[in-house]
Amino acid sequence: MLVLKTKKELRDELIKIDASVDIGLVPTMGALHLGHVSLIRKAVSQNQYVVVSIFVNPTQFNNVEDLEKYPKTLDNDVHLISSISDQILIFAPSVSEIYPTKIIHKNYEFAGLDKVMEGEFRANHFNGVATIVEELFKLIQPTRAYFGEKDFQQLRIIQKLVEIQKIPVEVIGCEIVREDHGLAMSSRNERLSATIRQKAGFVYETLKTAKEKFGMESATSIKDWVSKKFQENENLKLEYFEIADVETLTPSKKKIDNTKYRAFIAVYAEQVRLIDNIALN
Ligand code: PAF
Repeated sequence: MLVLKTKKELRDELIKIDASVDIGLVPTMGALHLGHVSLIRKAVSQNQYVVVSIFVNPTQFNNVEDLEKYPKTLDNDVHLISSISDQILIFAPSVSEIYPTKIIHKNYEFAGLDKVMEGEFRANHFNGVATIVEELFKLIQPTRAYFGEKDFQQLRIIQKLVEIQKIPVEVIGCEIVREDHGLAMSSRNERLSATIRQKAGFVYETLKTAKEKFGMESATSIKDWVSKKFQENENLKLEYFEIADVETLTPSKKKIDNTKYRAFIAVYAEQVRLIDNIALN
């Protein structure tokens, strides 16, 4: 199993691959779980070569504590990837390899996609995500790149990035993988106690009920219902709940015909921030 630490090592490996061969990229921040495994399996099934990057990208964290506490489990990650296939290249650079002079993000124009929800609560988060993903696209030049729909807003931002920077890669969104009690898989779930991890299944339960209500009630009335539900919940603190158009991500008050909507939620449990979303129609 090849674990490449520098851009040069990566280039030296990629140069051996015939230009006509499909390369799949799965960008991750490590602490891999079954959600990542499903992305990697999909990439393996659709491409001759697969690169998994493991890099906790400092420029996308707006909270120092969140960055410091982000789990780092490289040995386990390598082991897990090799159980899927031993042909996968792992790119696990250091921070100074990616940001040799300054740890700084680029500034992009995402037509408002980055201003709502996660963008509102996490300043410059998406500029940081796009900075590292664009760098990975340049270095690896993948045919396809795989992103989980748990971070649906991130997926829309990457699609926009590819459009504005004219990067020839197919961006593939993959379905959310959930724990037994419904909590969307996330590396941050490891920081929850067993009890709260189970109780956090409430987030998905709420999304499912919101979906049922969507056919019958207005977005405002569903939003009010969700905030009431969380006020009554002593373990989970609601940061936002929005019903938004999947194309523009604009929170909507009125449903428009032939428009697809999703409900988006961010919640704190034991100081861990959890996000999730669900397709409504
Ligand atoms: O979704 C993630 O894990 C990260 O935001 C990504 C896409 C790997 C960029 O650092």
